[in-house]
Amino acid sequence: MQKSQEELINELATVMERFLAQSGELELAYKALELQTEELKKMQEEVQQSRVLSALGEMAATVAHEIRNPLSGIGGYAGLLARSIPPEDPKRKYVDKIIGGISSLNKIVSNLLVYTRKTNLQKQETDLVAWADAILAHAEIEIEKEKKNVQIERNFPAEPLSAKIDSERLQQVMLNLLINGIQAIETEGKISVSISLNNGIAEITVADTGCGIEPEYLKNIFTPFFTTKEQGTGLGLAIAKKIVDLHDGEISVESTPGKGTAFCIKLQKEHRRLPE
Ligand SMILES: Nc1ncnc2c1ncn2[C@@H]1O[C@H](COP(=O)(O)OP(=O)(O)O)[C@@H](O)[C@H]1O
Ligand SMILES: [Mg+2]
Repeated sequence: MQKSQEELINELATVMERFLAQSGELELAYKALELQTEELKKMQEEVQQSRVLSALGEMAATVAHEIRNPLSGIGGYAGLLARSIPPEDPKRKYVDKIIGGISSLNKIVSNLLVYTRKTNLQKQETDLVAWADAILAHAEIEIEKEKKNVQIERNFPAEPLSAKIDSERLQQVMLNLLINGIQAIETEGKISVSISLNNGIAEITVADTGCGIEPEYLKNIFTPFFTTKEQGTGLGLAIAKKIVDLHDGEISVESTPGKGTAFCIKLQKEHRRLPE
């Protein structure tokens, strides 16, 4: 029996509908595939980068070790020399310069070792508010040293907020961020430190009103040895990222040139085991 025109139209409509549904699915599948390819490419790049970094790290660690011993010898003798020259002697300022240089070399070497050494965290439940308060006291000393007019604003919760962290290592991270903030401020400005809890994630933000970071530099700032400073080591943020990664946390940055920069660290308050 011949199908009526209406039946034919209905059938056609059903086929069309199915076709459209399938093409939508196909489009979704294609998009997912595209995303996966992109992710794979990113992973490949990361693997390549971590290979380069680990070779570089090994070399840096060896060099740092080799430098450390003679450096401490030089430091010891320079100290003896300084003690034997009275402060009013004009020669004394040369010795003081040598001592200053040795101390910055020491800082570079120990930063290198921190960056390259395999690190095991010593995590403990810590009240982030009290912990951050103590760190800010250090930062205030740094501000005085730099002779800048920098206000520190605390946006802390009224209640204690605890998280399981390696407080010493994360203190180093905070100090690196705070010191960068202080250095980014030319003469006067503000650094706001905020701590909050959002959906079980503890967030620590350090925001400054400093010079900001040019967009083309943003992707490089966590790379070891990237620095725009004459006296910089380029290791502060690389160390920060490494330590936050070890905490299974995240560190991110937002910056506007001429306005300021904000770094945000996100830490899981508790580690929940994923259901099997
Ligand atoms: N708060 C900030 N404001 C502006 N620039 C910053 C800030 N923090 C980091 N940077 C940029 O990132 C670079 C890398 O920082 P870091 O790893 O701490 O190394 P360093 O401080 O030794 O240069 C800096 O040289 C600077 O260009
Ligand atoms: Mg730094």
